[in-house]
This record gives sequence, C-alpha cells and structure tokens, in this order.
Amino acid sequence: MTSDILIIGGGVIGLAIAVELKLRGATVTVLCRDFNAAASHAAAGMLAPDAEKLTNEAMYALCWRSRALYPDWTRKLEELAGLPTHYWPCGILAPVYQHQDQKNAALPPSSRESPAYWLDKTAISQYQPGLSDEVVGGWWYPEDGQVDNRALAQVLWTAAESVCVELKDSVSVEAFLQQQGKIVGVQTSAGVISAAHYVLATGAWSNELLPFPVRPVKGQMLRLRIPESLPELPLKRVLYGQEIYIVPRRDRKIIIGATSEDVGFTPHNTPAGIQSLLQKAIRLYPQLQDYPIEEFWWGFRPATPDELPILGTSPCTNLTLAVGHYRNGILLAPITAALIADLISQQKSDPLLSHFHYSRFLPPSSTSMLTHSANFSNGHRPVVALNNAVITTQDSALTIAGKTFHSRLMTGTGKYRSIEEMQQSITASECQIVTVAVRRVQTKAAGHEGLAEALDWQKIWMLPNTAGCQTAEEAIRVARLGREMAKLLGQEDNNFVKLEVIPDSKYLLPDPIGTLQAAEQLVKEGFAVLPYINADPMLAKRLEEVGCATVMPLASPIGSGQGLKTTANIQIIIENAGIPVVVDAGIGAPSQAAQAMELGADALLINSAIALAKNPPAMARAMNLATVAGRLAYLAGRMPIKDYASASSPLTGTISS
Ligand code: FAD
Ligand code: GLY
Repeated sequence: MTSDILIIGGGVIGLAIAVELKLRGATVTVLCRDFNAAASHAAAGMLAPDAEKLTNEAMYALCWRSRALYPDWTRKLEELAGLPTHYWPCGILAPVYQHQDQKNAALPPSSRESPAYWLDKTAISQYQPGLSDEVVGGWWYPEDGQVDNRALAQVLWTAAESVCVELKDSVSVEAFLQQQGKIVGVQTSAGVISAAHYVLATGAWSNELLPFPVRPVKGQMLRLRIPESLPELPLKRVLYGQEIYIVPRRDRKIIIGATSEDVGFTPHNTPAGIQSLLQKAIRLYPQLQDYPIEEFWWGFRPATPDELPILGTSPCTNLTLAVGHYRNGILLAPITAALIADLISQQKSDPLLSHFHYSRFLPPSSTSMLTHSANFSNGHRPVVALNNAVITTQDSALTIAGKTFHSRLMTGTGKYRSIEEMQQSITASECQIVTVAVRRVQTKAAGHEGLAEALDWQKIWMLPNTAGCQTAEEAIRVARLGREMAKLLGQEDNNFVKLEVIPDSKYLLPDPIGTLQAAEQLVKEGFAVLPYINADPMLAKRLEEVGCATVMPLASPIGSGQGLKTTANIQIIIENAGIPVVVDAGIGAPSQAAQAMELGADALLINSAIALAKNPPAMARAMNLATVAGRLAYLAGRMPIKDYASASSPLTGTISS
C-alpha cells in the first residue's frame, strides 16, 4: 500500500490532520495501535486556554486560535460524520479559597478576545449556587468551553472514514526505516508500509519511535451521574478548582479529573488517586457526594519538558511532527490540523510554528551541526583552500541517519595513556563523532571514569558501542543503555549505536548472524544502527536492507594496525552501498587511512593507531589530514594505472636526430 501521507497515531491529533489533508486532496492512511488507549478518550474535553495555566505567550496564541476554530470545525466534522461532538461554549468558572489566588489567577494575559472577570463571594454564589462556603470568589472565563472528547474522537474517526481516509486500527509502528535523511517506510506489526510523507502523532508513546523528550504524565478520572431526582442541570459551566475540575455534560454526566502523576505508563486507577479527586471535588461542590459513580479510568498526557507541543518539520525531510500536546491536545486539534496541513500540502509555515520546533531541545552544538547540514544540503562546499587558490572539487557532507557531519574521521576513547592525551587527541583529530564503549563506562573501566566531564558533548556526537557483547541479546540490551547514556549527556535525540557482536576473544571477529539479528531488532526500536562487520559484501547488503544507517567493514583485525587487508571486498561494498561505508578497525598509519578514503569510503573510524602512537595528538592530526587528503584524492579522480612507462613531457615537437 502506498499513500501520499501516512499518519502514525489515531488520537484526535492524527485523525484531525488526516481529515484536513484528505479534504485538501491527498490520499491518507492512519495507523493506530489502539484507538481506545489514546489520551483523547481519557480527557475531560475542556477547551480551556484561560483556565489552564499556560507557560508562554506563543502557547496562549496557539490555544486561542484553536478555540476560535472550534465552532466551524466541529460543525464541518459533524456534517461529514452525521454524529454530534457536543461542543458547548459554556464558559469556565475558577473558584478560589484564598484571596491571594485572585492575583495568581489573573496571570493569563487577559485580552479583548479572551476576557476574564473576577467575581466576589456574593457574585460567584449567585452565579453558581451550591459552591463550598470556603470559596471567597473566582474567575469567570466566558470564552472557554468544552467538547465531549469521546464523541469528538468517534466523530473524527467516522468523518475520516466518510472521506475515504484508510484507517487501520490495531496496527503498531515498530520502527522508522531511514535512508540518507529520508523515511523510506515504517516497520509495523503488519509488515513494512511506505508513503511519500509521514506524520508522527503518537502522543505519549512518541519516544518509542524517535528520541524526542516526550514522556507520559498519567491522569486518573472518574464520572458521576446527576440523579434523576434533579430535574434541572445543577451545573451549566465547568468548575476549575485547585488540582480539580468538574465538567458537567448536557447528558447529565459529570466528569471529574484529574491527577497528574509522573509514574511512566503505570496503568490502573488507584485508591489514593480516586480518593484525592473525590475529596477535592466534594470540597468544591459538596452536593456531588450523593451522586452515583459510573466509571473510573486513566490516561497518559504527552508531556514535553517545557509543556509545549512539538510541531513542524523534523530531522527527516519527509517526516512532520505533531506530538507533545500535554494537557491541551483536545483544544489544540483544529489548529494543529490546519497548520500541519498547510506545511505539508503547501509548504507554508505559519510563524507560530517556530516556537514549537523540535530543535529547541537540541544542545546548542547540535543545532550548529544541523545548521551545517542545512547549508550543505543546499549546495556543496569546497574541500580545501591551497596557496590562495580555492580547490573547487565539490563535496557533500557526511550524512548518517539524517544527521550531517563535516568531519569524515571518527575516533574512540579507549587505550589512551591518560585522559589528557585523549582530550588533546580528539581535539587534534577535529572529529565530530566519538565512539564510547557503554559497558566500560558502566563498569568505570580504566580511562572511562570521568568520560562525561572529559569531553564536550555539546560539540561531539556520541556513538555508543556494544563492545564486549557476545550475543545479539546482550548487544540489544547494551544499545538501549547506550541511548540512555547519550540522553543523560544532553543528546536527547541521539539514537545512534555502533553494533558489535563479537563472540570470539582471540581474533575478535564479529558474528555475522548475531549482528544481523541484533541490527533488525534495533532498527525496529528506532536506533540508527552502525554495524561493525567483516568485509562481507553480502552481509553489508542484508544489513542495508534491514535499515542500518551505515556499514562498518573492518580493514584488518581490530587493534592490529595491519592496514587494508580486505581491499577487494571493501571496494565491492562501496560499489553497492546506498548507505555510508565507514572503514573501521585495522588502520595503523595515515597512509592506510588515505588509501581507504581514496577507495571511496565515506568515513573512517580510527582509535588504536592514534591512542597507541608515541605522540597521540600529533598522530590524530596526521590521521585527520590523511582522511581529508584521501577524500580529496577520491573526488579528484586518480589517473589510470598503465602497464608501461609513459613520459611526463609530450614528445611531439621535439627535435629528433
Ligand atoms: P493520543 O490521543 O494519546 O493518541 C495517540 C495514538 O497513537 C493512540 O491511539 C496510540 O495507540 C497511537 N500510537 C502510539 N504509538 C503508536 C505506534 N507506535 N504505532 C501506531 N500507533 C501508535 N486536553 C484538552 O485539551 N482538554 C482537556 O480537558 C484534557 N484533559 C485531559 C485529561 C486527562 C486525564 C488526560 C490524560 C489528558 C487530557 N488532555 C486534555 C490532553 C489530551 O487528551 C491530549 O493532549 C491529546 O489527547 C493528545 O492527542 P494525541 O492524538 O496526540 O495522542
Ligand atoms: N487539561 C486537563 C488535564 O490535562 O487534566
């Protein structure tokens, strides 16, 4: 199956985008692991930019714009689906127990489009009879409202069906398949599925697929019913108290929420959670204590560190992000759909989107690497300037799994005589990628104690490796640890792993079967896998097919310094590869580094030859120059080799006796 657009996630965000894009003429498929597990079903459905305490002005602007879209948006969807959303611009009342909360509640920037009115004790009790005696006053937000979020999710699903969006529930996306900064498909529980463009709308589960800082924040909820003995609806607006809200629906349901718990994906309602909700709700509106309870449930809000969503472009050219809507995803569904559809169908980027770009979570140095990537991808750069004449041989940057690097030399941290030598060597090598043995860091092996502090991880991209792993299972486990390690060093989006599965301790040769098995699994888990292999062209091809980001064939046994012993095979690998080929292991001297680059290798990984040199920083510099020289020579195109001598000066025109 191929669609123009493949949307991953069938909550309100994914579905709203799907309908919008379909109405603009695209063919759209939605994959959803579990429609009913979505936060969209668990929510309260408040449309509450004024009552919720938002964290910044751009977020207010986004939320207000979305709230303004609600009447027309729900009307359009209801017509498509033939079902109601129960959108109700009922206003929200936020009672307080102490006068100082009067000031706090006034914090939202009150504007003409979103006025807020302070009601004193008398006014609020006339406005809403039955409130607690403890209430001293409260804020009235007339523009806020609500929608029945479960009804909305159903309406979106039915509307999507009615316009022929292809909807697939119970299909789980396990990994993105990436090549050269583009998504070429997704690995799913139903096989590989491809499209021209992809949208990530996976709510609290987004971090399973891409290493963005989205985490679940659990909310427990419950529902009461207004007893039939009360002929009138006693509540006609939402009550938004301290750590509690009470949302009356017109069909006599009363939704009460919500806890806010940092407990990961721990399921279930708990006695403590429900007790706290009931206690706070009864305190605010005492007559609830006699209402029948109908249901308890829980859900997971998709939270980001700054509580703002992640919207817009991604590191991959054909992947758009719409995740992290935290407490306001129901409210933000219409504006998210409109802005994301503008971006995808018209390449129109609303100025507001810049506040919600994923790059705000990258450390400053990564941003500059990405800036490099942007510059490079727009064109090419001269490799080197000599004697004031620019050598104009053109080169593109090294791109691995969508990330761009201007150095083609990678180094490691092992075998150095001191931390200082390692630091100086890495600086002299000008490398941007340094591989680190996760196991050795874990066990604080010699030279690995102060690694976190020793290098500037804002400038250097960590390549965690699985050295010391003898089986695929071990390597998978260590790779996951490596990802966490990179995150702890501030590289939240680092999903790289150098995969080493080496059962044999004498020759240290990698196990091809274990490597392939581990690579397949790690790709599914969203890793950018850089497997270390023997120089085996067939294995290299298989690894590329399962979605590895590079292949790293060895030049000769690790640490041997024997140089290129596998030239013919490496040449075949380079000829057939659609992913970068990084020659790894065995390079002992700069001449060998240059030779590997002259063959057309995309990059080199050199550790022992630098660390074990008499003067490691000097050798690091030499390796750097050799890598650049080898690359330049490859691009320049060497002269053909001839069987016989050929004079340097032409013979034509010379005087013969
Ligand atoms: P979800 O609704 O969580 O949907 C994500 C979907 O993606 C799910 O169906 C999931 O199965 C699917 N998925 C995940 N991973 C994969 C995968 N790998 N492959 C395929 N499918 C996948 N917001 C408001 O505006 N107002 C409120 O009053 C409100 N109250 C809330 C109360 C609670 C208790 C909670 C938990 C949230 C509340 N929210 C509220 C927040 C709102 O519910 C969320 O922000 C919103 O639902 C997020 O929508 P979404 O589509 O991004 O994610
Ligand atoms: N917006 C309400 C909640 O997330 O609980």
